[in-house]
Amino acid sequence: MTRTILVNKDNPIKNNYLKKIELVDVKNIYDEDIQVEKEAYDNFLKLQKFLNSIELEIGIASAYRSIEEQEKIQDYYMDKYGKEYCDEYVAPPSCSEHHTGLAIDFYIKVDGAYPSDDPKVYKDLEYYKTVEKYLKNYGFILRYPEDKKSITGYSYEPWHIRYVGKFVASIIYENNLTLEEYVNNFSGLIAVNKKKGMTSFDVVNEISHLFGIKRVGHTGTLDPLAEGVLIVAIGKATKVVELVTSKNKEYIADVLLGIRTDTRDITGKVIDKSEDIDISNLDEVINSFKKTYMQEVPIYSAVKVKGKKLYEYARNNESVELPKKEVTIESLEILDRKDNEFRIKTTVSKGTYIRSLIDDIGEELGCHATMKTLTRTSQASINIEEASTLEEIEEGNYKLLSIEYVLDYPIQVVDKILEKKISNGQRVDNNYNVIDKIIFKNKKDKLLGIYEVDGNELKVWKNF
Ligand code: DAL
Ligand code: ZN
Repeated sequence: MTRTILVNKDNPIKNNYLKKIELVDVKNIYDEDIQVEKEAYDNFLKLQKFLNSIELEIGIASAYRSIEEQEKIQDYYMDKYGKEYCDEYVAPPSCSEHHTGLAIDFYIKVDGAYPSDDPKVYKDLEYYKTVEKYLKNYGFILRYPEDKKSITGYSYEPWHIRYVGKFVASIIYENNLTLEEYVNNFSGLIAVNKKKGMTSFDVVNEISHLFGIKRVGHTGTLDPLAEGVLIVAIGKATKVVELVTSKNKEYIADVLLGIRTDTRDITGKVIDKSEDIDISNLDEVINSFKKTYMQEVPIYSAVKVKGKKLYEYARNNESVELPKKEVTIESLEILDRKDNEFRIKTTVSKGTYIRSLIDDIGEELGCHATMKTLTRTSQASINIEEASTLEEIEEGNYKLLSIEYVLDYPIQVVDKILEKKISNGQRVDNNYNVIDKIIFKNKKDKLLGIYEVDGNELKVWKNF
């Protein structure tokens, strides 16, 4: 069940939705039996309790509705106030977010009584405005705010609130969005500081769940053993996943001399040992690795050979020729050394396996070397200091990074004529001395596209 489900005039409720939610039976202010989604109701009770403490009494008029109930409601309002009112305030059956159980119509008791219908609410508007201020603290948003009719399809409804969870409610309030705008347009990149033990896929799932957005991708796998910067893209920013992945990365790794394991890291099975560990030529060997070379892909990797992942060959004990890929070690230095261990810091090109680099260094030294720890300290233009742990993100302590910030290409603001060309993906002259890529924006700071050099011109790499 996703709490950010969008149900509106263009998005009717899907048949299987109800199977995924848990409804609780409660009474409404008219003492009728109604149902509300469980988490939404728990939070409504907390909101109600808080409001009591500031002397506002609220109660639920309506929450979950079946399609048949919405039909009856539409008929009732049609008779009472006519079509114009219904177009503004009543959703057609199947298009009401009351079908989700996450929407609540609440009324406020004023002078000892609840209003009998929606239009009466407007005379007590100041109280509804007070309630609105506190909604986000309990995971609710005002679903049909004033001045957003063109987006939501409905006029201002001070009584209709929608549960989306505290995390999303804060984003929606801080950015003055509607649910439509959040679900369809929210995008950006987050630098996650991944903890050991999680897969990159786990991180993507957590972010997707937290934001209630399905389109989430990461920009370069970090194994469970590894920690550090993992840039995650949300929404439209997933368009640059490939580009961010292709950027250089910096790592710090601890190396243990004297053993070789099947996985080339400390978690693997020891397959060979070296008796004599002589590292008198360590500096020389380290220096010699600052180069471009053909690196063997480790067997414990997801790289495919003849349609099968390498680690599957390893698991089945099948022999396979390991492919080699060109990698560049841009920088490599020793940060620390002690007994038969040392720590390296290195900047490498896309696709470099640090465990393989360490294994290669071991072979050059004449004794085996195994990766003990691995921390990605930077990726693209992002350093680990800018990355947030998942716990910090859950608390709202993170920065949503823009594509242009992470990619660090030159930015060019263009006029209307060029904007049109770029939006259509047309080629443009390279009047900007671009060497690799350039980011085009319009005067309103909207990202238009990323272009790359092609001969004397620039061609579109990605449009937004
Ligand atoms: N009042 C809202 C739009 C509904 O009927 O669902
Ligand atoms: Zn409603």
